[in-house]
Amino acid sequence: MKSAFLSAALLVAAPSAWAQSQNLTFLTGLLTTLQSANLTSLISATSTFNSSGVGQGILGDLSSGSPFVLFAPSNEAFASAPSNVTSDSGRLTDVLAYHIVSGNFSNSATTYPNVTLGRTFLNDSEVVQLEGNKAQVVAWAIRADGHIHVLNQRNDSTVVNTTSFGNITINIVDHVLIPPESLQQTVPTENATTSLTQLNTFLGTVNVPFFNSTSNSSGSISAFNLLNSGLHGFTFFAPNDSAIFASQSNLTALASNTTALNNLFYNHLINDTTVYSPQLVGQNFTSAGGEPLTFSINATGQYVTSGNTTALITQPDVLLSNGVLHVIDRVLINTGFNSGAASSALASATSAAAQSTTESQPIGFSATASLSSGVSGSGASASGSNSAAVGRFAGPGKAQMVALGATAVGVLMGALITVF
Ligand SMILES: *[C@@H]1O[C@H](CO)[C@@H](O)[C@H](O)[C@H]1NC(C)=O
Ligand SMILES: *[C@@H]1O[C@H](CO)[C@@H](O)[C@H](O)[C@H]1NC(C)=O
Ligand SMILES: *[C@@H]1O[C@H](CO)[C@@H](O)[C@H](O)[C@H]1NC(C)=O
Ligand SMILES: *[C@@H]1O[C@H](CO)[C@@H](O)[C@H](O)[C@H]1NC(C)=O
Ligand SMILES: *[C@@H]1O[C@H](CO)[C@@H](O)[C@H](O)[C@H]1NC(C)=O
Ligand SMILES: *[C@@H]1O[C@H](CO)[C@@H](O)[C@H](O)[C@H]1NC(C)=O
Ligand SMILES: *[C@@H]1O[C@H](CO)[C@@H](O)[C@H](O)[C@H]1NC(C)=O
Ligand SMILES: *[C@@H]1O[C@H](CO)[C@@H](O)[C@H](O)[C@H]1NC(C)=O
Ligand SMILES: *[C@@H]1O[C@H](CO)[C@@H](O)[C@H](O)[C@H]1NC(C)=O
Ligand SMILES: *[C@@H]1O[C@H](CO)[C@@H](O)[C@H](O)[C@H]1NC(C)=O
Ligand SMILES: *[C@@H]1O[C@H](CO)[C@@H](O)[C@H](O)[C@H]1NC(C)=O
Ligand SMILES: *[C@@H]1O[C@H](CO)[C@@H](O)[C@H](O)[C@H]1NC(C)=O
Repeated sequence: MKSAFLSAALLVAAPSAWAQSQNLTFLTGLLTTLQSANLTSLISATSTFNSSGVGQGILGDLSSGSPFVLFAPSNEAFASAPSNVTSDSGRLTDVLAYHIVSGNFSNSATTYPNVTLGRTFLNDSEVVQLEGNKAQVVAWAIRADGHIHVLNQRNDSTVVNTTSFGNITINIVDHVLIPPESLQQTVPTENATTSLTQLNTFLGTVNVPFFNSTSNSSGSISAFNLLNSGLHGFTFFAPNDSAIFASQSNLTALASNTTALNNLFYNHLINDTTVYSPQLVGQNFTSAGGEPLTFSINATGQYVTSGNTTALITQPDVLLSNGVLHVIDRVLINTGFNSGAASSALASATSAAAQSTTESQPIGFSATASLSSGVSGSGASASGSNSAAVGRFAGPGKAQMVALGATAVGVLMGALITVF
């Protein structure tokens, strides 16, 4: 009786135009799996999700049979989510897109650097401004309790159970995940753990030249506002409060020299490339000041060196809507500037950002990287190519989205909700 009702719903809802893009047999199986795990709030939310072209496209991709990770908030998670996260359908669509990660994560590293990052489907330019219009990432770590904890969340968000359907890993999570926000919104939240209040003050005192392409005008901007909204894709090494206190005399000595202060700021910045901690293994970068930023990893942690200063990364991967921060324990006292190296690094970053690559595994993960040998000796660097894992997520194309039926999955879900 029940399956007959379901088949009838599918039959009514099955115009041939979208049949190639969406596999209803698959989606039915997926929804049935969610239902058996009691994820009824998620199933209801999916029906809102499916009322947008973006959501339909993502459901089409999900049904392709390729591997995905789905963070599935429990009913309790939805019940406790802030109202502004779930009330508005556009916001809900963005939030759900942030719960779906493309790729096979069965090989993710559990050894240091112990943060796993995956590219989600969230690429709404209102809430994500990474280079090359890349979609936002989500970061997680397996803690001593054996559970996956999603990082950068206001509430500790723990995967309480895992199930699967086909190649989709379903991680049942006890909070709705909130996508990364701006520097201004994030730093107060992270304040307790990252202690970046001195940094904010410092960044407010540095003024750098800025060309605003929206207003087509040149002027200057504080370093804080540059990171907050002026850059689309960046990596910033953020000295914590104790680092700034310890360097107070050096900073005071530079205070009257604008060029030196600007250079010091630029040497903490990689422009136009959002580099996550696993990508800092076995690779060096050039700062926006054109100076080398070199990286090493050993049993005590991951380090960055600029000029004569080496700092420990005390908290990697503080995700922002437009980039990433890695918190460090020393100010990188380097006032050098190499304009040729800076422009050539920016040119290659811009060209890399424009290339579209599909990410099908953890960001920065390389099967050939010898992470275990990297941590054994002091100062040793792990080697291995991770460039293949970096790049723009190839999201659903416009043609595919147009081809999907707006009502089909909605009817299907209506049927499922009725059936169960
Ligand atoms: C649809 O998904 C099912 C598994 O749920 C699979 O057996 C079937 O081959 C898929 N059909 C197509 C056309 O890919
Ligand atoms: C789902 O909920 C029912 C009762 O509401 C309970 O009996 C069952 O154990 C739950 N299943 C899971 C997987 O939590
Ligand atoms: C899972 O994905 C692999 C490759 O990514 C593919 O070969 C396999 O057929 C998929 N399995 C299912 C059940 O779709
Ligand atoms: C939702 O409200 C919280 C405060 O309760 C605020 O911090 C957050 O920025 C809001 N989010 C959106 C998307 O409006
Ligand atoms: C990674 O491992 C280090 C050392 O064991 C630990 O201090 C840190 O908390 C771990 N990171 C996360 C995100 O769990
Ligand atoms: C975890 O999921 C399995 C299979 O869906 C279920 O049997 C079990 O009761 C669940 N455990 C918890 C703690 O919800
Ligand atoms: C950061 O934390 C300190 C100490 O807990 C507190 O005094 C300060 O107001 C916080 N700053 C922000 C911006 O939340
Ligand atoms: C650039 O100009 C636009 C339009 O005047 C303004 O809204 C925006 O805030 C400016 N961007 C920055 C980073 O100042
Ligand atoms: C910072 O200042 C101290 C003296 O206050 C000086 O000894 C030290 O060399 C300075 N560090 C750098 C990197 O310039
Ligand atoms: C200011 O700093 C720049 C860059 O370090 C340096 O070249 C210049 O000589 C300094 N100017 C003064 C007046 O100290
Ligand atoms: C950062 O990169 C953008 C291009 O994405 C460029 O317009 C801007 O001038 C660069 N800023 C710095 C400080 O290098
Ligand atoms: C990074 O720079 C350091 C210091 O110059 C060097 O020892 C190391 O080989 C470099 N790593 C790579 C991958 O180029």
